[in-house]
Amino acid sequence: MSEVLLEKPADGIAVVRLNRPEVRNALNLTVRDLLAKHFTDLGNDADTRCIILTGGDKVFAAGADIRDMVDRTPIEVMARRDLWKPIASCPKPVIAAVNGYALGGGCELAMHADIIVAGEGASFGQPEVRIGIMPGAGGTQRLTRAVGKFRAMRMLLTGEPVTARDALAMGLVSEVVADAEVFQTALRIAKTIVSMPPLAVMQIKEVTLAGQDASLEAAMILERKAFQLLFSTTDQKEGMRAFLEKRKPEFRGR
Ligand code: CAA
Repeated sequence: MSEVLLEKPADGIAVVRLNRPEVRNALNLTVRDLLAKHFTDLGNDADTRCIILTGGDKVFAAGADIRDMVDRTPIEVMARRDLWKPIASCPKPVIAAVNGYALGGGCELAMHADIIVAGEGASFGQPEVRIGIMPGAGGTQRLTRAVGKFRAMRMLLTGEPVTARDALAMGLVSEVVADAEVFQTALRIAKTIVSMPPLAVMQIKEVTLAGQDASLEAAMILERKAFQLLFSTTDQKEGMRAFLEKRKPEFRGR
């Protein structure tokens, strides 16, 4: 069976499921290649409107595969770097459904998502320092932007994980639910997103992410331009007319 499974549980929703439970879903090169491929394909697929990324109900991912990395040369490690790009630049909303450990590259993978739903028993950490390296896929950057310097440094320099509840308090996850409800909660959120006008959804994602790294003034211009652009869509006319006519809108993605 493939080490990354692709499922379509409902219209417009794709599930990307890590499937290496025997090694806690460690991210080897095959998994990373498959993730890059699936995210590229789903990003380009007009029928996919929201993606759920999960490792199943026991563990999200225990990080990069240490066995795979132990004897790598810097040149070999460099060749892998771009495999994260298709996930980071995916234009469709991504929801991480996290049960169990999200460590190292697993925590970084979760942080590539737009929404993180965590189970009560989940834990998040960047333990790379304990094995002689440091995070290499956003752990020092996305984590710091999410939780601030002092909480990020605490995690990065000690390698100690935080619980799902602590992660919620820090702003590292969107929501904490009972372990058994993680996937269903993610699915419910995905269904809500799929019922929204897709062009507006994609503009919101693009502008929110692009604006994070721009000055407030430049980001506000980006926002205003995208806002104006949406007035060229039939979904804007439909959404507003439906509200005024007190009926449910029928969005067509145009
Ligand atoms: N890479 C390779 N194999 C791993 C792994 C990893 N990251 N994590 C777990 N495994 C393997 C173990 O070697 C073990 O294999 P064997 O059965 O062949 O011995 C199997 O998975 C089960 O692991 P444990 O017995 O350790 O399971 P546990 O439930 O007691 O502990 C754990 C789980 C806390 C996640 C522990 O396995 C662990 O600490 N793993 C390593 C976490 C880590 O250091 N991650 C960072 C990796 S570096 C990185 O991610 C770089 C980056 O930023 C891109």
